[in-house]
Amino acid sequence: MTSGEGRDGRPRLEVFAAAAWADHVAALLAERLAERPGLVVCLPTGATPLPVYARLPAAMAPLGATARRSTIVLLDEYLGLPAGHPARCDVVLRRELVDRLAPPPCMVAFGVDGRDPGAACAAFDEAIADAGGLDLVILGLGRNGHVGMNEPGAPADAPTRVVELAGSTREAARGYGVDPPPTHGVTLGMAGMLAAPEIWLLATGRTKATILEAAVDGPVTEDVPASLLRDHPGLRIIADDAAAPPTRS
Ligand code: PGA
Repeated sequence: MTSGEGRDGRPRLEVFAAAAWADHVAALLAERLAERPGLVVCLPTGATPLPVYARLPAAMAPLGATARRSTIVLLDEYLGLPAGHPARCDVVLRRELVDRLAPPPCMVAFGVDGRDPGAACAAFDEAIADAGGLDLVILGLGRNGHVGMNEPGAPADAPTRVVELAGSTREAARGYGVDPPPTHGVTLGMAGMLAAPEIWLLATGRTKATILEAAVDGPVTEDVPASLLRDHPGLRIIADDAAAPPTRS
């Protein structure tokens, strides 16, 4: 691993070889679960974390870690997809992670079926508060710099809310098997992310190199929502060597 503190307060970036990246992130998360059995952790879907989720049970086993008392909070959700749709974020997170954990954790997701999405957002925030607040938020990085579904233009105080999806997010959804892709979603807001004591921003692959560089070394701007995380004292950026800016790997 290489780790760049960078000049002048640039955020710390942890870089692993692509072949080892998922094992390292799974080990880090397993350690957190072992240290804090009641961990309340917000998790993304998308392609980036899937190899981490696949490795997590094996990473937990030697530590004697269990998710039984933990709460897994789903970061965001599409609107307009029927319950059980294989590309719905709740279905993906259950399939890729929650169903692999035995005994299972408690899961908090947006209740978007048969209810006003605004009410689903309020209930989501209440469920997080009832769980004691988020300890850790793990995020993927959108090609346009979004985190969760906080698209460019989202301010640092953006709450949990209904959002219109950017074109590249809709294209990504098509790639996940949603065609036609949804136009809207619900997401944990920037404010909810920044309120957590720890944030891990994950990025892998060459397609993330340009936007990761903008997020970590460019200006702090609402145009790149991930850059708004930069001053958070608990931010870790964990990338593979394909995504890391050349000056940092
Ligand atoms: P990806 O998506 O992990 O599929 O690249 C990340 C995101 O859009 O947040």
